[in-house]
Amino acid sequence: MSISWDDEAETGPKSTANAPGAFSGTTLMNQAAVDAAAPVASRAPSPVTASSIATAPASRIQVVQSMPAAPVSTYMSATESSAEVALRAAAASLNGTAKLDSLLGESTARVRVDEKRIINCRADLNQLVPIKYQWAWQKYLDACANHWMPQEINMSRDIELWKSNELSEDERRIVKRNMGFFSTADSLVANNIVLAAYKHITNPECRQYMLRQSFEEALHTHAYQYIIESLGLDEAEIFNMYHEVNSIHGKDAFEISLTREMLRPDFETETFKGAQTFLENLIGYYVIMEGIFFYSGFVMMLSFQRQNRLPGSGEQFQYILRDETMHMNFGIDVINQIKIENPDLWTPAVKEKSTELVRKAVELEIAYAKDTMPRGILGLNASMFEDYVQYVADRRLEKIGLAKVYNASNPFPWMSEILDLKKEKNFFETRVTEYQTGGALSWE
Ligand SMILES: [Fe+2]
Ligand SMILES: [Fe+2]
Repeated sequence: MSISWDDEAETGPKSTANAPGAFSGTTLMNQAAVDAAAPVASRAPSPVTASSIATAPASRIQVVQSMPAAPVSTYMSATESSAEVALRAAAASLNGTAKLDSLLGESTARVRVDEKRIINCRADLNQLVPIKYQWAWQKYLDACANHWMPQEINMSRDIELWKSNELSEDERRIVKRNMGFFSTADSLVANNIVLAAYKHITNPECRQYMLRQSFEEALHTHAYQYIIESLGLDEAEIFNMYHEVNSIHGKDAFEISLTREMLRPDFETETFKGAQTFLENLIGYYVIMEGIFFYSGFVMMLSFQRQNRLPGSGEQFQYILRDETMHMNFGIDVINQIKIENPDLWTPAVKEKSTELVRKAVELEIAYAKDTMPRGILGLNASMFEDYVQYVADRRLEKIGLAKVYNASNPFPWMSEILDLKKEKNFFETRVTEYQTGGALSWE
């Protein structure tokens, strides 16, 4: 099986660069409401703010997401078994139960592949097959084949170096600031999937990949925690940097504002505005967070590895980079497929807004790079990051069918070589512990 996580991989739908025009009511607005029962606005404890999403306990966000119960009769059909009726009745009687149509599938008919759509689909979402989007299913399989765990990577040389006096203050700043950004960034990504985006992707093979991606984001948070703990960094200082360091906070606030839009009680994807907001969320997370905001940090941390320093952290970042590249490519495929299925959605105004989001992100990422590495070091300097962030942004814009903006050249061609991890080593030969398969697990 080929593992296609290269950021040049073209496995999914191609972007559609045109099709401006009036929004088609039949493509989005005529779909029956998958989530027609709107969340109860009055149950939200207060208006959701950027900071409240960042810090609110999960229970609070769940309250915002809860739905009113609907009459049991709403859910009955002539073909239901008594067990199904009992299940519906039991679930509907729960306080704040979600509308069962969205859990059991709106239709009880067998699924036809031509009914499947990325958003606003009416077919049963619990039936994985027949698969329509092979690119999504293949990414799920590839991601599972790439499984790794942070604690399998040997950190002893990193610990030795960090305790020595061989790292300058500027080098330590780079490590700490990047840990400060990454240690909470993956939590924001996971929260956006689980609390905001997943529900609106109405396709089971895409959802299958998003569930895998969510787990990988947890693994990445685990990896950063593992590096922070291994090096003996001040955990409270590092994990709270996204509140305390402006250049980190700026990037996160940008992302959180996009999540906030989708957590509004009346949010839905069946209107032009809702679908546009959802597209912006996907661009914000899959193109910008996964594809731009991570990249200065990747370059800096992998630059240590290129000098054969902090090799354990470097290896963690290599595996994370591989995962994030696949996440980004999945998101780009989803965005392009939504455009194909809803061609009137991709208006000149939407394209302009999308480009503007990327421009703003480039400013934030360059500011972050300069703040994290104020002086030239590791063979890097600030102007190289300006070029690199712009170069990367142009590539992302083109992948979703937008014109590039910067025409910058790539000062770090070695990054694409690092992406090809298989050339470097065989992961399964360098692991410090054996990966536990199902047959090896102890159940005691
Ligand atoms: Fe991640
Ligand atoms: Fe990711």
